[in-house]
Amino acid sequence: MNLTLNITTPLLIIGAALPRTATTSIASALERLGYKVFHFTTMTKPFHPIWEDICDADTQQDKQQYDLAFGRFVQQLSDEGFNATLDQPSCFVYEQLMEIYPDAKVLQTQRDAGSWARSMVEMGYSMDMYFWQPPFTSSWNVTKGPYGYWHKKQMGYRDEEIHPHGVPKNSNPYNKLERKSSISMASAKVAYHRYHHQVQEKVPSERLVPYHPKQGWGPLCKQFLPSNETCPEGPFPHVNTNNDGFLLDARRKFSARVHLHKIHPSLSNQKWLVNSVVFIMKRRRKAINAIRRIFAKGNFKQTN
Ligand SMILES: *[C@@H]1O[C@H](CO)[C@@H](O)[C@H](O)[C@H]1NC(C)=O
Ligand SMILES: *[C@@H]1O[C@H](CO)[C@@H](O)[C@H](O)[C@H]1NC(C)=O
Ligand SMILES: *[C@@H]1O[C@H](CO)[C@@H](O)[C@H](O)[C@H]1NC(C)=O
Repeated sequence: MNLTLNITTPLLIIGAALPRTATTSIASALERLGYKVFHFTTMTKPFHPIWEDICDADTQQDKQQYDLAFGRFVQQLSDEGFNATLDQPSCFVYEQLMEIYPDAKVLQTQRDAGSWARSMVEMGYSMDMYFWQPPFTSSWNVTKGPYGYWHKKQMGYRDEEIHPHGVPKNSNPYNKLERKSSISMASAKVAYHRYHHQVQEKVPSERLVPYHPKQGWGPLCKQFLPSNETCPEGPFPHVNTNNDGFLLDARRKFSARVHLHKIHPSLSNQKWLVNSVVFIMKRRRKAINAIRRIFAKGNFKQTN
């Protein structure tokens, strides 16, 4: 890569582990050690068009456009003071980042492949079903957008394993878990192992930092503690993004926008309306019961 860049904040930690490998907890730990971490949940708006361009150029194998877009990504990281990356989408470009930052260490977290596959299929890939519906179809093109095709190709899925419309071709209609997901459990498990081994093969052992959150602060402090900081004591951060955190909120938001768009296209862009629907979805049981009571009263009057 031949890039003209003006890097003021070099990257010190490159996260090569896949999403759903405790990346949010580890990001929070690295922040305690003084790092500014680029993560899916800390990605600022300027990165969105850059990533769309990276994915487009990569899918179309346009090397010149790819290098330009990638250069914008690296420059933006530095401009915003990020010195560590974790999670998707940056985990898929760990090799390119290693080339640009020869002194950075590569952090690889481990997780049980089965529980990883379950988490991905349940949450990550089940979001894909929203991206092929309006209002997302044009801006979040599933076949090439950052959260669709490109991302799955980086993990080595074959085309026939990817179900762009969120419904696996050979799905078992009685399997609730896989029914709404764009990837099956079996292919997710295979992809996890394949990706994990690929990182171990491609990263020289002196740069690779294997890690499991169960190990706590010790290994992170040993590798990454800046000389003027002290290693934190006490429990290691545990941030659950799956069941009631970032991912569930994101899924509610996507779903709200799809449903509002069906009522009227302009509604799906009204932030306050989307947030109100999300609020109701969170308290759905209470809201449904309240509506039932109102209708029950109505029926009572009619039958009398
Ligand atoms: C990482 O970046 C943050 C913010 O840009 C900075 O305060 C911190 O000192 C940097 N950490 C190291 C180890 O250089
Ligand atoms: C999405 O991208 C594919 C591949 O580039 C293209 O064929 C398709 O027309 C795009 N769909 C939309 C809705 O933009
Ligand atoms: C350690 O040094 C970095 C970089 O100079 C600075 O950003 C950070 O605030 C310092 N931390 C402490 C605890 O002094």
